Amino acid sequence: MSGYTAHFKVWRGDVRGGGLEDFEVEVNEGEVVLDIVHRLQATQAPDLAVRWNCKAGKCGSCSAEINGRPRLMCMTRMSVFTREETITVTPLRAFPVVRDLVTDVGFNYEKAREVPAFVPPEDLGPGEYRMTQEDVDRSQEFRKCIECFLCQDTCHVVRDHEENKAAFAGPRFLMRVAELDMHPLDAAEESGLDRKRTAQDEHGLGYCNITKCCTEVCPEGIKITDNALIPLKERAVDRKYDPLVWLGDRIRRRTSSG
Ligand code: SF4
Ligand code: SF4
Ligand code: FES
Repeated sequence: MSGYTAHFKVWRGDVRGGGLEDFEVEVNEGEVVLDIVHRLQATQAPDLAVRWNCKAGKCGSCSAEINGRPRLMCMTRMSVFTREETITVTPLRAFPVVRDLVTDVGFNYEKAREVPAFVPPEDLGPGEYRMTQEDVDRSQEFRKCIECFLCQDTCHVVRDHEENKAAFAGPRFLMRVAELDMHPLDAAEESGLDRKRTAQDEHGLGYCNITKCCTEVCPEGIKITDNALIPLKERAVDRKYDPLVWLGDRIRRRTSSG
């Protein structure tokens, strides 16, 4: 493929407002959208704000919306578009704009802090942890997350509903709760922390209606919905309808109110 000129529309602005700006820009063989944004900075828009770090799909910082779809700019090849196509690059819609393509993703750090950490088992020391390969594989899939927050951005629960943000952790952090709840060595329950209950009551699991949009945009190919959210929902429901859990809750409530 020889070089050609592409038509780009890039959102420029800040918290006070902004709009799409048109650019004609050179594209060369093998380039990705981030290369084009860098060329714009070098040739036509030196103050264009963009966040990036690794250019290898690993740091999770170059997230944006390309033709309306949440994607990593460094992993989106120009060859997926036709030469005639206008390519629109806008900041992540679910988070407040700082400037141009840079958004404030602080919401995600707040949600991360709300998930209690792994609780180490009391009776095991370092080096004594044993897990089946199946349990290791499950955790490892979730740990491939690069924290790009594309799943958080695409989830309709918060994408157009700012008011849901307080009560909903989003797919990335519900996945974290699921990982810990399914972790065979996590001693949360013994310490009095019921992750299934907090998933429902504090992290908003009930808002998720398993549309799988989060899974579709994950650049790491993590099956967020099938392997984390649905199992967590099943476990939370099992807990609710388990007669022993129900009885235990009733006794606990009576004891605490008496
Ligand atoms: S599956 Fe749940 S968390 Fe994922 S995008 Fe849909 S509603 Fe949001
Ligand atoms: S789960 Fe996937 S889409 Fe979501 S933050 Fe992690 S890597 Fe990004
Ligand atoms: S620059 Fe690191 S993921 Fe794109």
